[in-house]
Amino acid sequence: MKLLVVGSGGREHAIIKKLKENKNVETIYALPGNGGIAADAVCVPIGATDIDGITDFAVKEGVDYAVVATDDPLVLGCVDALEAKGIPCFGPEAKAAIIEGSKVFSKNLMKKYGIPTAEYETFTDLNEALAYVEKAPVPTVIKADGLALGKGVIIAETHDDAKRAVISMMQDKAFGKSGESVVVEEFLTGPEVSVLAFTDGKTVKPMVSSMDHKRAGDGDTGLNTGGMGTVAPNPYYTPEVAAECMEKIFIPTINAMNAEGRTFKGCLYFGLMITPNGPKVIEYNCRFGDPETQVVLPLLESDLLEIMQATTNGTLESTEVKFADKNACCVIMASKGYPVSYEKGYEIAIPDEISGSVYVAGAALKDGKLVTSGGRVLGAVETADTLEDAVKGAYELVKKISFDNAFYRSDIGARALKAGR
Ligand code: AMP
Ligand code: GLY
Repeated sequence: MKLLVVGSGGREHAIIKKLKENKNVETIYALPGNGGIAADAVCVPIGATDIDGITDFAVKEGVDYAVVATDDPLVLGCVDALEAKGIPCFGPEAKAAIIEGSKVFSKNLMKKYGIPTAEYETFTDLNEALAYVEKAPVPTVIKADGLALGKGVIIAETHDDAKRAVISMMQDKAFGKSGESVVVEEFLTGPEVSVLAFTDGKTVKPMVSSMDHKRAGDGDTGLNTGGMGTVAPNPYYTPEVAAECMEKIFIPTINAMNAEGRTFKGCLYFGLMITPNGPKVIEYNCRFGDPETQVVLPLLESDLLEIMQATTNGTLESTEVKFADKNACCVIMASKGYPVSYEKGYEIAIPDEISGSVYVAGAALKDGKLVTSGGRVLGAVETADTLEDAVKGAYELVKKISFDNAFYRSDIGARALKAGR
């Protein structure tokens, strides 16, 4: 089989490594992939948002199955375009990807169908938003409606901060069109859990839970990033919490999307907060998480391609989705200065014997050598029987990898270890 994966991060590298375990897979094309992915797939320089380019390539090469892994192409209708050419895909059509593409849509969906989430109001008028945040209890949370590279959420500690956030989104267009509408919501507290779930629109099969570490610095300090590391499973996601999430959140969400004529197929990401009043949805994503995927897929014992095809064909109920009863830890090595500004082009040294445990994100090939080309450069992943050993093992891998200006958090997994004791 010839497969195509759209995207270029560590998540895509994890998906590709797992897909390769299926014996029927002959070739995987990564569009565009990256310098590290090139060791596992044929990278083709077609951008992830070049929908026409992707579709033409898939038709020309006779691709049998496509995995659209990144949010932008999903929201832009990449799956719709490929399916129109007869190429089956993993991932939601645009009308379902809106669950991530518009926060106004997802908040209204949750309100309409009684899915637990933070109380909120939505605004398209600057003055109405300003008048509201002046009186709203603080801290208050301001969210741009559309995609904003994970940066469109501001937690305002004061009324002045809240007003500034509204002005920067709605008037100064800090996130372009994404900020034309905003959601202002109640500040929730509690541990966060990421749950990725396969669904064919009828059945939902959650994967092992995970915990992201979003802040750049140790002790959850510093700026928000795309994610500096992950562990799986998440100790806060107990069997009781899981059962409550299935009943009150996962199944109602799938049913709600069906009722709206927006059947969701693919991987639905539930960003949850376990509040004193029970689990609530912080955000939905229409795709696998990054770097959650790097700890979740190494624990998957069933065949990823078969599961993905089952979400497309509507046969997920009869398809095995089994995870090892083990733990995983991913430590992200980033370029110093990320997420603001950083230098690129430094050579990366990864010993051959650990390359199977390294998921490359921001790296390019230059004269045959792997060099840094992004903020998050790679993730080192270890699996083990205990979380303690997984964390220790991931940091041992990190010590064997080197590039100039590298930085990483030294406390990935610390909170989970404390909670698990
Ligand atoms: P997001 O980009 O939507 O994942 O949001 C970034 C982070 O902001 C989340 O991981 C939470 O830590 C935080 N956050 C978002 N919404 C809320 C909320 N209503 N209350 C408290 N924290 C929030
Ligand atoms: N790690 C968070 C995300 O993928 O959105």
